[in-house]
Amino acid sequence: MTTDLTIQELKKTDPIPYHLLLLADPSKIAIDKYIYKSVIYTAECEGKCIGCYVLYPLNQETLEIKNIVIAEEKQGKGIGTILLNHAIGQAKLMGGKRIRIGTGNSSIGQLYLYQKVGFRITAIKMDFFRDNYKDVIIENGIECRDMIVLTKEL
Ligand code: ACO
Repeated sequence: MTTDLTIQELKKTDPIPYHLLLLADPSKIAIDKYIYKSVIYTAECEGKCIGCYVLYPLNQETLEIKNIVIAEEKQGKGIGTILLNHAIGQAKLMGGKRIRIGTGNSSIGQLYLYQKVGFRITAIKMDFFRDNYKDVIIENGIECRDMIVLTKEL
């Protein structure tokens, strides 16, 4: 856990933290499809950006966390959980009725974390990663092939 954490909206004039976003989504082409229509929130610790998440309005009722990431050296300290709960709060403030997040079938830790903060599996996009990513992604010894969509009612 960290004592000094500031979460704030990234200004449109600030540089997009691709070095972090690419840890969660290996395709800059994929990132660029959603990033300009989204709000980016950054987490700062001791003056340094150590994580962020990206909130994308899918429609008037549903927001999607398109990307959430914590810098490698800060993972496993509870900050991801804080950012997820912040995203849930922001989605409520924006008048959303639900928030959703998608992750790979191979992202076992992420699937655990999202369910722990109240998301439920609501859909599977079969072969999403095979169809949309150039390179095969292997994680936890299995192919990242299908996208698991999880949703939380607000
Ligand atoms: N593997 C195993 N367990 C994990 C993982 C993982 N990859 N991520 C989180 N957990 C578990 C933790 O062990 C912890 O368990 P506990 O509550 O029983 O102790 C719990 O989830 C909460 O963990 P936090 O410390 O709050 O999570 P963290 O700060 O590490 O942030 C995150 C989680 C954002 C997934 C981070 O690990 C990360 O940036 N990973 C790389 C990028 C990534 O995979 N992003 C998500 C892709 S999907 C998307 O962006 C929509």
